Amino acid sequence: MREQRGRLTGSNSVTGTATVLPDHLLWARRRADSLSAVPYSPFFLLEVCDDAPGLARVAHLSVDEVARRREHGNRPYVARVGHRIVSYGWCCQGTAEWSGRNLTLSVEGGHRYLWDFATVPEWRGHGLYPMLIAWIVRSERRGQIFWIIHDRENDASQRGIVKAGFQCVAALYDQPGGRVRLGGSGDSELLQLARVVFRDLF
Ligand SMILES: CC(C)(COP(=O)(O)OP(=O)(O)OC[C@H]1O[C@@H](n2cnc3c(N)ncnc32)[C@H](O)[C@@H]1OP(=O)(O)O)[C@@H](O)C(=O)NCCC(=O)NCCS
Repeated sequence: MREQRGRLTGSNSVTGTATVLPDHLLWARRRADSLSAVPYSPFFLLEVCDDAPGLARVAHLSVDEVARRREHGNRPYVARVGHRIVSYGWCCQGTAEWSGRNLTLSVEGGHRYLWDFATVPEWRGHGLYPMLIAWIVRSERRGQIFWIIHDRENDASQRGIVKAGFQCVAALYDQPGGRVRLGGSGDSELLQLARVVFRDLF
């Protein structure tokens, strides 16, 4: 594996050609997929967040931005220890920005797009991220298919997503102008759905 024009590449052992690695990975899980493997700890309180100032503080957003996201069909979920928010993430059935690039994504029907998650540094490694995702899947009773994207190099995110029962559907490659190209194989039904749900990014 080597750096080529600023991007990581690997060589294809069959053809001998260099292959550009994806920039992001797209994952999905169906509501019906098992959640039994995700450990839950009653030590943490999981809920839809109604503390906009508290969330804004921990997520480094303005209170107006929290309100704007909510108005556009995004629900903030949090994990708390006492009153303190220690982990958060957004569930979109509406419109969301993607990766801070002026690209707006519209998510409709039984689809839910999970985005902008973080656990505060001192609480990382306690399984909060998969726990919160699993809680969202349980709570969003009308959600049938849940989607999430992470940067390929974000191993911590990928490990949490796998623990929450997601399967990798597609690879996303950055394109000039901020759009992405979708590539990949796997569950063909999910891949076909991904082409529709994420059409605004292509
Ligand atoms: C990705 C992130 C949300 C995971 O949150 P979390 O609550 O720590 O999740 P988990 O406890 O399941 O840990 C996931 C992985 O993080 C890594 N990890 C464990 N402890 C860690 C620590 N103290 N610091 C950093 N990463 C740690 C491990 O690889 C762990 O996987 P493992 O338990 O199989 O070894 C968190 O690292 C984070 O906020 N990162 C910055 C924002 C971000 O990348 N968000 C995701 C965008 S989709």
